[in-house]
Amino acid sequence: MMRYAHITGWGMAVPERVMTNHDIAQLVDTDDQWIRERTGIEQRRIAGPDETTGTLATRAALRALEVANLRPAEIDLIVVATSSPEHLFPATASIVQDRIGATDCGAFDLLAACTGFIYATNMAAQAIRAGSINNALVIGAETLSRLVNWKDRGTCILFGDGAGAFVLQGSDEPGGVLSSLLRSDGSGADLLTIPAGGSHIPASLHTVGNGLHYIQMNGREVFRFATRVMAKATAQVAEEAGLEISDLDLIIPHQANRRIIEAAARGLKLPLERFAINLNRYGNTSTASIPIAACEAIEAGQLHKDNKIVIVGFGAGLTWGAMAIHWTGPFPAKRKIYPRRYRTVARLRSAWRRSLRRVEGVIYGSKTIK
Ligand code: COA
Repeated sequence: MMRYAHITGWGMAVPERVMTNHDIAQLVDTDDQWIRERTGIEQRRIAGPDETTGTLATRAALRALEVANLRPAEIDLIVVATSSPEHLFPATASIVQDRIGATDCGAFDLLAACTGFIYATNMAAQAIRAGSINNALVIGAETLSRLVNWKDRGTCILFGDGAGAFVLQGSDEPGGVLSSLLRSDGSGADLLTIPAGGSHIPASLHTVGNGLHYIQMNGREVFRFATRVMAKATAQVAEEAGLEISDLDLIIPHQANRRIIEAAARGLKLPLERFAINLNRYGNTSTASIPIAACEAIEAGQLHKDNKIVIVGFGAGLTWGAMAIHWTGPFPAKRKIYPRRYRTVARLRSAWRRSLRRVEGVIYGSKTIK
């Protein structure tokens, strides 16, 4: 029997603190008008001292589980797509798994920069369609404000913090993910990068002194690349799904620059109203931008059950990707689940496992492992 991967839950979380273009003009030589005209961005959210990629991811995930009406323990797989993970390792996905109390699942991070959410949704959908899992949680989460060079006006105006999540579930009913496309062109790896802090150029006084642990970008080149791939990738997945461009109810593009979205609309000969756009309020939240835009499109009545949509994005790598989706929504439920209620149990469980490990350490710790 054919399996289909439906999107049955969605959620978002953004920090409270708003940073306007005027605030940025206090830090670097720029102004509100320049940023608005060249990017369409008016403000972005910035994580507070207690917020991390993991806390934002956890909040978005719990909301998505609420919509899907799914217990954390029913999740088989968590994929966090992020360009600003909490650590090189462990994966932020494992941190989220522990916090929400998903006791019976695998968890990993996926790095495909801003295209990561499309890659992650595709991987989860493939696993569901292959029949190896049934319920997946896919999260895009970022605190890019911690990796941006606040002295570089070419980049610090663009990025913002936030998280968004989808729940994917398997069903024999047709619908959900219809087709997808994932692409990479590593010859452009140097165009958008955090050069140091990985294994190639480990962190040192030199790298920190020269700001090599911050985002570096060739904006003009990335812009040209993005305008080339967005319309083409959208058309390709639509065709593969058997849809005409005019059949598409909504396109949810990666929210990087309004001019890039306008170019895609021209390329597809679609009115701009057919695109979800909220980058004016959040800037570029990398992997989180598509699920956040999806959540707001639903809130605004722009995205409904049975719509045919495309999500499309691009980013460092270079990478790009697109996915055609038949939007179906939550499966019918017999009773209401409250995923948040499991959080206290999750915290106690986590504390219990830590103390058990400590006791084991005392008992076995002095013995050498043979
Ligand atoms: N405020 C004022 N002036 C600025 C500025 C700022 N924040 N940033 C750059 N400038 C200046 C430049 O120094 C340049 O001046 P010059 O001509 O005297 O050298 C001028 O504005 C034009 O710079 P340019 O880089 O050509 O601007 P642009 O129109 O390409 O816009 C970006 C710059 C970054 C907004 C644009 O290239 C872009 O959005 N690129 C894509 C980036 C992206 O989406 N990255 C994320 C990928 S996931």
